[in-house]
Amino acid sequence: MKQPARYTLTAALPYANGPLHIGHIAGAYLPADIHARCLRLQGKEVLFVCGSDEHGAAITIRAIKEGTTPQEIVDKYHAMMQKAFSDFGIDFDIYHRTSSQLHKETSQAFFLELEKNGVFTQKEEQQYFDPEANQFLADRYIMGTCPNCENPNAYGDQCEKCGSALSPKELKDPRSTLSGAKPILKPTTHWYLPMERSQQWMEEWINTGMLDSVQQHDASEWKPQVLGQCNSWLKEGLRPRAMTRDLDWGVPVPLPGADGKVLYVWLDAPIGYISATKQWALDQGSGAGEWEKWWKADDTRLIHFIGKDNIVFHCIIFPMLLKLHGGFILPQNVPANEFLNLEGQKISTSRNWAVWLHEYLERWPNRQDEMRYALATILPEFKDAEFTWKDFQDKNNNELVAILGNFVQRIFVLCNKYYDGKAPEPGAGPEQDVELWAELNVIPEKVAAENDRFRFREALASAMHAARIGNRYLTETEPWKLEKTDPERTRTVLYNGLRICGLLSVVLEPFLPHTTAKLRAMLGLKELVWDDALRADLIKPGMPLAKAEHLFKPITDEEIAAEVERLHATSEANMATANTEPKDPVPTPMEKALVAKANITFEDFTKLDLRAGTIIAAEKIPKADKLLKLSIEVGEPTPRTIVSGIAEHFEPEAIVGSQVLVLCNLDPRKMRGVESQGMVLMGEDAQGKLVFVQPRSPVPNGSEIR
Ligand code: 2FM
Ligand code: ZN
Repeated sequence: MKQPARYTLTAALPYANGPLHIGHIAGAYLPADIHARCLRLQGKEVLFVCGSDEHGAAITIRAIKEGTTPQEIVDKYHAMMQKAFSDFGIDFDIYHRTSSQLHKETSQAFFLELEKNGVFTQKEEQQYFDPEANQFLADRYIMGTCPNCENPNAYGDQCEKCGSALSPKELKDPRSTLSGAKPILKPTTHWYLPMERSQQWMEEWINTGMLDSVQQHDASEWKPQVLGQCNSWLKEGLRPRAMTRDLDWGVPVPLPGADGKVLYVWLDAPIGYISATKQWALDQGSGAGEWEKWWKADDTRLIHFIGKDNIVFHCIIFPMLLKLHGGFILPQNVPANEFLNLEGQKISTSRNWAVWLHEYLERWPNRQDEMRYALATILPEFKDAEFTWKDFQDKNNNELVAILGNFVQRIFVLCNKYYDGKAPEPGAGPEQDVELWAELNVIPEKVAAENDRFRFREALASAMHAARIGNRYLTETEPWKLEKTDPERTRTVLYNGLRICGLLSVVLEPFLPHTTAKLRAMLGLKELVWDDALRADLIKPGMPLAKAEHLFKPITDEEIAAEVERLHATSEANMATANTEPKDPVPTPMEKALVAKANITFEDFTKLDLRAGTIIAAEKIPKADKLLKLSIEVGEPTPRTIVSGIAEHFEPEAIVGSQVLVLCNLDPRKMRGVESQGMVLMGEDAQGKLVFVQPRSPVPNGSEIR
């Protein structure tokens, strides 16, 4: 693989059929924005494109519901989304739209090239038709009962309950979404993509990264759930998929004899990334071919940021189209996120169970970073996560206010008090701070590395760690007392404090761009780059500092109660107005167990007595299929007896001698007459099999885990 010379980052084009909610933001846009900002700060060449997806059933159905035209719908929601993104600080290089003339030309030319390459097959088929609406019914225009899970509200392309991909003819009791009528079958001709022809190279490319004998990506860097979804599709065998539709809203098929046909929205939408790039290049006043390097040069790294419902389109269908067209690079990675739930339920547009971004921005003006922070700490990177208003309050009050804001505030208050609002000249004795800087010096590199791996939650935690270190340093050195006895050392401490503020203003910028701009202004610094974070002369002695200002303010219980009440009230009001759409399923207990949990304090953590131990005996418990009785040596005079529900996963004799981690201070509990004196920590592998959590190399039994 070549070293990347530039990065093309795309974020899923949202349908212009409704406003954005925080689930959209946590799914694709915030991670993409963090990634883009972090790379840009490091001086990398980045193009970050997005735009509105203005075709497809999502739009026309919305127009019917609102009693208006598709054009009015897309104009309204395109403007609304563009504003919300920009107000929230999602910093696209361009936010384009698929109803533009340039997009029409680009997608038609792309289709024609595929046709010229003999990619498509044409097929006449019987398809469902709504005699009342006088329209063929594909995708979301048709609903019925899912053959796999009996969900009565499955769509013609997908069942949202069980996630299976469907075709209209698989639905039981089909009905038209437009009129409710029972559809009839009528013949029609379409251009099909015979995906089965690409099965082999696709499997290889996804799972090994090899394409035409060249290593294109490192599959071990792809998220397991992304590979898992692709492979379950591939395992079923790729099938021909129609790339055209009989509709009057969309990009017309540019071929003779194709009147009344448009491109399938999932063909046209991802090409929207390319047309956005072309528009950006034009806006820059660049030459006609300038867009190409972002899509064709083999040292460009193409990354698609999406939610999990878009995986197959970005990992299989679009890459296949790019390859069959020829001349394009394929994505290097598709770090799709899982879903964000809200207050214990799935986010639902139809039930108004959502936090709408534009409404949040109105009700919490200038508090973008508070939401960016709360979401970034719970991004559903590997499993569904959950947003609660209480957690939003906790993250703000306990972290932004108490850790970051408090640190900055203390430094500025003291510098204003002791040095008349100027940065002090550090005194002698910085050698005492070697440890401090040893800890801080690794932070920018760590944040950048975690960003490269799309681990944004970890990246943020690492960046915030600098503020925690700063607070600890102040607690240890107590400059407010020290000033009386050792003013020279105090100057060093506060000078170091200012340097940490400077460092924070860089490493937190991808996450909290509004706050870091404020912090830099307080420091009297202009735009910074990543390498400035550790520059020893970033803070010049004598430079004027602003007055101490609170970067964040506490959020009250009343403010949070009002949000929760509002959520319930608007959701219920919405349910009361004739709502025919299905209720989104409440997460199963299993799904619930998988969502991100609220933070605990370090003190909470220290209450756990976690130790390493070795299993010295294991036996089945009679008449209990799931239980094993374990004897575990945990550094005490006698081994502990622990009953563990792992009998279906392990043979007793196979685990004797294994080192494991044990929670030793769990309340003892009797199971099948045996008292269990603790718990063995377990994880689950990708197949759902239980595995022991073990030290990487053996440690003495009884070693404390912390
Ligand atoms: O799921 C959606 O909201 C789609 N509009 C995403 C399209 S992504 C890309 F292909 F444009
Ligand atoms: Zn289903």
